[in-house]
Amino acid sequence: MSAPNKSYDPVEVEALKPEEIDRAKDEALAAVAAAGDLGALREVKAAHAGDRSPLALANREIGALPPQAKAEAGKRVGQARGAVNKALKARQEELERERDERVLVEEAVDVTLPYDRVPEGARHPITTLSERIEDIFVGMGYEVAEGPEAETEWFNFDALNIGPDHPARSMQDTFFVQGRTEGEDSGVVLRTHTSPVQIRSLLARELPVYVICPGRTYRTDELDATHTPVFSQVELLAVDEGLTMADLKGTLDHMVRALFGEGLSTRLRPSYFPFTEPSAEMDMVCFVCRGASVGDPDRPCRTCGSEGWIELGGCGMVNPRVLTACGVDPGRYSGYAFGFGIERLLMFRHNVEDMRDMVEGDVRFTLPFGMEI
Ligand code: PHE
Repeated sequence: MSAPNKSYDPVEVEALKPEEIDRAKDEALAAVAAAGDLGALREVKAAHAGDRSPLALANREIGALPPQAKAEAGKRVGQARGAVNKALKARQEELERERDERVLVEEAVDVTLPYDRVPEGARHPITTLSERIEDIFVGMGYEVAEGPEAETEWFNFDALNIGPDHPARSMQDTFFVQGRTEGEDSGVVLRTHTSPVQIRSLLARELPVYVICPGRTYRTDELDATHTPVFSQVELLAVDEGLTMADLKGTLDHMVRALFGEGLSTRLRPSYFPFTEPSAEMDMVCFVCRGASVGDPDRPCRTCGSEGWIELGGCGMVNPRVLTACGVDPGRYSGYAFGFGIERLLMFRHNVEDMRDMVEGDVRFTLPFGMEI
């Protein structure tokens, strides 16, 4: 700022000359009009209305004028700055409006566009069916238990009362895992059933134990319409004080009704498993004909082969030797168990005729089962 000076005349001070002020104003207004977007306008504002703009500098010179010159110079600079600020504000509003209109157009979502060009996959029905079974039992207070698919022979056989010389040991077509060196016995197999999870659960948990064990199992079968070397089982184990076969029967009835509908029941036929005593095969009333096809040649039933019953799997009271192997006192505790294959269940529940459809991974097979989550 120049020093106060008695003889200071605005017309003589370069920055305060009327034509200089008009020029600064005109330049500012032209720059405002030329600003094409909000960013450019911000720069114009700094250059022409900021602290170091010509008009701001001119404004500062006013203080140095003699009193009689101040009013006129102040008015001229004030009007120029007012005009520039007004133009800035108007341009700002105009550019903001333009931007908003553009954003509305550019960011508009066309809700009529197809959203499903990438086809949805589907969860495999083996997974959804075994989860459905888990849910039934979780609803009754059971816990889901899991174990490894590569299992030691002790868990897969010995602890289940299938000793080294037991015929059942060679009857189960087992995949043996190779030892590290040739001829070395690894002691590990691909589990032939989910029953080893019974043992793991009994060893790891406090009594009473109520678990449902779903999982993948392996046997050396060729893949054909009714066999697959990799299959799925669900096994159930309950060990508590005072459990009887009536509890087993009631549990099976409940599961069958939850899976297939009201009014269905099960029956037990004597059988043999080393890890249960007594043991039984469990059948359920055919959920399609409900027994009506039996002895009626006019009403054949494809689902049960007009037998009236469908075989589900094996079951029984946990063999006391299994309880002992897990450190459970068979004098105080008893238990029941059952196990069955999910592929077979899926076959008769959904009329799947060929097991190979389940392992090929073709989405055309899985999609019709829907998106059960
Ligand atoms: N683990 C038996 C199998 O794979 C099934 C089963 C489980 C039988 C539990 C009885 C009790 O054949």
